[in-house]
Amino acid sequence: MKILGISGSLRRDSYNTKLLLAAAELLGDEVELEIWEGLKAVPPYDADDDTPTAPAAVAELRSAIAGADGVLFSTPEYNSSIPGQLKNALDWVSRPLATNPLRNKPVAVVGASTGAFGAVWSQAELRKVLAAIGARVVECEVACRNAAAAFDEEGRLVADDAREQLGRAIDDLTGAVRARAQAAEPVAA
Ligand SMILES: Cc1cc2nc3c(=O)[nH]c(=O)nc-3n(C[C@H](O)[C@H](O)[C@H](O)COP(=O)(O)O)c2cc1C
Repeated sequence: MKILGISGSLRRDSYNTKLLLAAAELLGDEVELEIWEGLKAVPPYDADDDTPTAPAAVAELRSAIAGADGVLFSTPEYNSSIPGQLKNALDWVSRPLATNPLRNKPVAVVGASTGAFGAVWSQAELRKVLAAIGARVVECEVACRNAAAAFDEEGRLVADDAREQLGRAIDDLTGAVRARAQAAEPVAA
């Protein structure tokens, strides 16, 4: 099983990217988590540029999502919402709506913030956007709050409550991927 990890932060030492790395460690051997690193290269959405020859970074993102069995998003919270760069990338991916690569794709949303609430508003908004795009959004939440203290100096997730929530989110996502694969299997005669 292949899971694509998308961090909504562009920051080098991003806690949200660290959360994805923590997820990769918690996943079993049969699951590979690849972190997509092209977010900064995605240009602002412009319908005039949304042609069959999409900008390279957009084409790469669409292809990375299409090639994954599921997607794990880790989002910061900017002014109580999703960072603009992540929303912008999803706007690109969403077109054309009927055939976009997130359609029916199992996805889960987690988040980290340096504040006391762990980016829960941003996660809720991201789940709403992903559902509007047509993804199968797993009902989970990881409130990795006070992120500066939740990770140790090596970047390992040491906050027990966030580790527990992350473990459950991963189980739910991989469960949704397996359920989708089973539903797609032809019934034996
Ligand atoms: C423009 C901006 C707005 C922010 N707004 C919020 C907010 O509404 N709620 C919150 O908990 N943290 C907020 N923060 C703090 C972020 O949670 C913190 O910068 C976090 O580390 C960002 O995630 P990252 O480490 O993955 O880059 C904001 C930060 C920035 C730069």
